[in-house]
Amino acid sequence: MEVAQRLQRIPPYPFREIAAIKRAMAEQGVEPIDFGIGDPDMPTPPFVIEALYEAAQDPATHPYDESGFGIPEFKQAVADFGQRRFGIEVSTDNEIQCCLGSKEALAHIIWAYVDPSDVVLVPEPAYSVYKVQTTWCGGAPFPLPLDPAAAFLPDLSAIPSSVANAAKLLFLNYPNNPTGAVATREFYEKAVAFAHQWDLIIVQDAAYSEVYYEDYLPSSLLEIEGAKDVCIEMHSFSKSFNMTGWRVAWAWGGEQPVGALSKVKANVDSGTFMAVQRAGAVALSHYDQFAPTMRAEYQARRDALVDGLNSLGWNLARPQATFYIWAPVPPNFATSAEFCAALLQKCEVLAIPGTTYGDAGEGWFRMSLTLNGADKLGQIREAISRIGQRMPGLWG
Ligand SMILES: Cc1ncc(COP(=O)(O)O)c(C=O)c1O
Repeated sequence: MEVAQRLQRIPPYPFREIAAIKRAMAEQGVEPIDFGIGDPDMPTPPFVIEALYEAAQDPATHPYDESGFGIPEFKQAVADFGQRRFGIEVSTDNEIQCCLGSKEALAHIIWAYVDPSDVVLVPEPAYSVYKVQTTWCGGAPFPLPLDPAAAFLPDLSAIPSSVANAAKLLFLNYPNNPTGAVATREFYEKAVAFAHQWDLIIVQDAAYSEVYYEDYLPSSLLEIEGAKDVCIEMHSFSKSFNMTGWRVAWAWGGEQPVGALSKVKANVDSGTFMAVQRAGAVALSHYDQFAPTMRAEYQARRDALVDGLNSLGWNLARPQATFYIWAPVPPNFATSAEFCAALLQKCEVLAIPGTTYGDAGEGWFRMSLTLNGADKLGQIREAISRIGQRMPGLWG
């Protein structure tokens, strides 16, 4: 039986394909140094696991979560975190939705708003979900190129009025995957004004809001005056608490978009396991105990990888947030895929071609600081040494 045209229209999920390449290499006894998928390699903090263990033993957590938006304890912990971390007020009544990971929320907000041929403003390069789900709904993704010369912030003033007028959603993602870029407050102010002007909803993907370095502190879009009327922001426990497999996240923002997301979810899933929500609440309340150690670890890896690549001829700045290094492909390689294939074959180093994140990613590749196996800094040094020895003179 042929699958629906709808499913035929969308490409396979990129990281499934990369996993298949890794499996094929493993069958030949080759295990690359893997800078591929951005899946934290550190374990979930023990106090969160203990909270889950305790909550899972309470039969009250075993049924469906009939609250719809999330249990009161979870929503209160989210609201308190919003107050402490960003200085924002979010109502536990109708401005927070617990989600099964932010990917689910990002996909379903599109299903909530996009009818066939509706325009969605999608940055490029970007996490694939925004464009793929828009296409899936029959919508028309309009690409917003992220120019390195503009610090990877989209030029909203370059969007033709006819497009802005037809657009229902504007996707933003800061701190950004794959570029590691961060948004200025000034940019957020412009984005909120743009959303008011054209009567559209901003979906800000804040999955990396807690992975930041030194004195840089990412803002929430909700800090901007008037944002709540035009915005829904997705946060995740995945990267911030090493909880990718737990599938727990939250959306907060205006009552209307949060309610719309909730209505889709009510008809598709039956909420997050309440024991996981309780553990999530504990994670948020003890956040400061844990996050500095995680950031220090990524910072050491970031410095080792950026300094290492620079020693080979790159000229990269250290990203202020995320665990991604976004680097230009050296000359003499026609495409980012060609460079990444050479890196894999000659050095057994796995990096992701920029085109995985859209055509605008051509000429770039991404390396994630999440690494499996022991001695992460040793693996980074080994990768740099292999590239230096086996691919000499990359930059002439
Ligand atoms: C930009 C971005 N948003 C959202 C997600 C999804 O995270 P999760 O569904 O685990 O919350 C990812 C995962 O890699 C991501 O890179």
